[in-house]
Amino acid sequence: MNPVIRAVVKKSKSVGLEVVGIKNGWKGLILKDTLVLDFQSVSGILPKGGTILGTSRTNPYKDPGQLSSLKTHYRELGLDALIAIGGEDTLGVALRLAREGFQVVGVPKTIDNDLSETDYTFGFDTAVNIAMECIDRLHTTAESHHRIMVVEVMGRHAGWIAVHAGIAGGADVILIPEIPIDLDEVCAVLRRRCEGGKTFSIVVVAEGAELGKGEAVAQDQKLDEFGHVRLGGIGQTVGKRIEEKTGFETRVTVLGHILRGGSPSAFDRVLGTRFGVKAVELILSGAFGRMVSLKGNEIVSIPIEAAVQKLKTVDMGLYDISKIFFG
Ligand code: F6P
Repeated sequence: MNPVIRAVVKKSKSVGLEVVGIKNGWKGLILKDTLVLDFQSVSGILPKGGTILGTSRTNPYKDPGQLSSLKTHYRELGLDALIAIGGEDTLGVALRLAREGFQVVGVPKTIDNDLSETDYTFGFDTAVNIAMECIDRLHTTAESHHRIMVVEVMGRHAGWIAVHAGIAGGADVILIPEIPIDLDEVCAVLRRRCEGGKTFSIVVVAEGAELGKGEAVAQDQKLDEFGHVRLGGIGQTVGKRIEEKTGFETRVTVLGHILRGGSPSAFDRVLGTRFGVKAVELILSGAFGRMVSLKGNEIVSIPIEAAVQKLKTVDMGLYDISKIFFG
């Protein structure tokens, strides 16, 4: 997110606009928690992971009082436009505000890469690279110990990280939320590998992958403000069942939030920079209610609505390619 913030500030300043940073997402506008963003505040942030503004999972539409404070503060701050950087939840709020007449533009951000109408969201490439490196490391220990390694990666509704990291890391099985897990098939692949002389295997599973429709494994049933449970645990379930069914010694690694930390990749820095510049251009041309987007190698804009109305799930053509390498 920092490359986006930096680009927004630098582009804005070049055309004489002032920039106010809203701290911690929608929560900052509810509490009027802001800071002036100038050259000094964005100096040196390009390689820093996370966001200098902080973030939160706050849904102002859940509480009329909070929504009213947010709107009052928007006016009190004298904002001419608001850039919302986020995934389906943040941009869902942005869309509702835009429909109410607020001058909002969106920038797509999620490591899950599941927003429609943009080829990639920033954060995804960094997450995939970290996951790939971890899979490479797990390969060596798996091979030495003759074990099955199950690697759980993020991906709530879409298995983009699992598929990309799995292909890049040479996974033997990739399990994604889009397709219910068939454990017999998974075990058959692992047995085939063993018969072929491979005494180890890597199974990559997205946290949202399900053994049966609607059976995602959650850490608890508590919902966040947008109605999501905290996923996690499918790796353990799959690992245990593989060991029971095949007798192969199995270990499970959950990469989780490691994928969301650290310095962004070059691709994400460039994408974030281009998105930030384009967001300011949208404001200058009065293109509100729109989101910046990557199509091919072009940065374009699309209605925010188009990005959030339907999630972008894994391209089955790509998944079929990954399956060529199973076993
Ligand atoms: O929505 C993006 C995401 O990274 C999901 O892959 C994951 O389920 C979720 O965030 C984790 O959220 P939190 O950091 O709030 O636990």
